Amino acid sequence: VKSLRRVQTFVHRNTGTVVAAADGDPLRKEATDEKHGRRSLSAVQAERQGQAERSVLISCNPRTNEKKFLKFLSRHGDVSKYFFYESYGIYALVEFTKRESVASLLEEAAIPTVSHEALVPFKTRLLSLKNIDSVGSTNQQYQPQTTAPINQLIQRLSREESIDRQVISLTESYQLTEENSRLRFLVCSLLQDMVAAYFPECAIKPFGSSVNGFGKLGCDLDMILDLDSISGRKAKTPKSASSLEYQLKRASTERAVTQSILSVIGECVDQFGPGCVGVQKILNARCPLLRFAHQPSSFQCDLTANNRVAVKSTELLYLYGQLDPRVRFLVFTVRCWARAHGITSSIPGAWISNFSLTVMVLFFLQRRSPPIIPTLDHLKGLAGPADKSVIEGNDCTFVSDFSRIQLRSNTETLEQLLCEFFDFYATFAFGKMSINIRKGKEQNKPEVAPLHIQNPFEISLNVSKNVNATQLGRFVALCQESSWLLQQVETATPTGGAAGNTPRPWGLAALLQPSQVAEIKSRKKRRREPASERIRTLLESLKNNKQPNKS
Ligand code: GTP
Ligand code: MG
Repeated sequence: VKSLRRVQTFVHRNTGTVVAAADGDPLRKEATDEKHGRRSLSAVQAERQGQAERSVLISCNPRTNEKKFLKFLSRHGDVSKYFFYESYGIYALVEFTKRESVASLLEEAAIPTVSHEALVPFKTRLLSLKNIDSVGSTNQQYQPQTTAPINQLIQRLSREESIDRQVISLTESYQLTEENSRLRFLVCSLLQDMVAAYFPECAIKPFGSSVNGFGKLGCDLDMILDLDSISGRKAKTPKSASSLEYQLKRASTERAVTQSILSVIGECVDQFGPGCVGVQKILNARCPLLRFAHQPSSFQCDLTANNRVAVKSTELLYLYGQLDPRVRFLVFTVRCWARAHGITSSIPGAWISNFSLTVMVLFFLQRRSPPIIPTLDHLKGLAGPADKSVIEGNDCTFVSDFSRIQLRSNTETLEQLLCEFFDFYATFAFGKMSINIRKGKEQNKPEVAPLHIQNPFEISLNVSKNVNATQLGRFVALCQESSWLLQQVETATPTGGAAGNTPRPWGLAALLQPSQVAEIKSRKKRRREPASERIRTLLESLKNNKQPNKS
């Protein structure tokens, strides 16, 4: 209970709002929702999009004098926020109070002169500051856009006094900062300007971990090109008998349309987009996408179109993360633990994905007694008429109004939950059962796959169909080892350490250190595997590498 109180005052850095804790009193909870400032994802996104439209990204000299820099900018209007960061040089994100200031600033910007190259005259809000007086000492503070190395995190956690504090500290060091969130929305906005050359009413919005509340500094930037306002999906039926229609090109399928649009945008980003490099068109994946690096932000970007189910998944994950702060704490901890042990990877393959892992944490929290979060079917039952959503035949309806959701009284601490999580999956009947957050109960596996996690919205699909037996085996072995470590007095209690010395890693810090047991087990298993199985796994991971698609 003591640690829960601490949890109650935690500030959600993604949204800048204070996150409420489950206090066990549903009535009080409902009444205080407003007070806790919990906002829907669409409200958060609208605010961030507004900020992004009033912002520019400026490459600066490392010794730029901050005062002179601000004075220079303020000739165009009031600056409401700015910060410096490093990414292939020094950049400043500058947000003005008014949008007109951006227009005024761009008017002053010149096309550079180059001697041995030619330029594509494509203007964006990505600028370079030249010749500003840089004499004198620089007082710029660079905002970090990546996490500290794992060893530093282990040291930091070792100094905490309880496992609950360690979990909170890990989340605080890993979650997206206010600045990084702004940068993500600005990159979407810059890209939207480019795509608007073809589709003036389009919107480019972030989804996935950039906005679902589980994003780690340095995670990729998933974006969706939203053409709904143009495509006719939201069109009104004409009132009068006579009406005009646009003449449009036709294609055989929606998929073909998505592929051709992404292909053209891919060319545009590749040939005209300043700072965009390494553009890959991955159009044959189940969900066609463009992948590229945006150097001024250091983001690895994935742009998809017509991917509305993924947007719904993002909204659902965000909602679960907002219901109780323990959800985010546990997801961050498990994701970090999995990454530290190579259970997840940035390279597509037979590994468990972060998305699958998050669904596994949600399922575990639904299985607590009493449950910490409700099932998806329960959230569907609470939905109002405006929440109705059917996408390509899949019912994606669930409640959007947080205040309608009444939570049960569960006061388990983060430490208890972490131990129980490892225990739960160390002994889960993966062979027979499927993980199902819609029902909040394991179901018989509908198909053969080492790990079966039902896709919450496309229920005939398995989100972890890429995972092979070896990877699942490593996960289970690590859960067993971590559960064991948390039950040992030597590793589960603070070690203190002499004054000035870093204490020996304990608790969560000990769990993040390289595993011994799991590695030995996996090596043994690999040795026993027949060669044909290893080749099959390798082929599968190569296939997945080519098609980094979602299932
Ligand atoms: P990281 O990028 O690893 O931090 O997490 P992420 O949640 O952003 O995952 P990823 O970039 O792989 O995917 C982006 C979003 O696509 C996820 O948040 C989900 O909403 C959706 N998604 C990812 N994988 C799957 C999948 O296997 N099935 C379905 N239906 N959706 C997925
Ligand atoms: Mg992502």
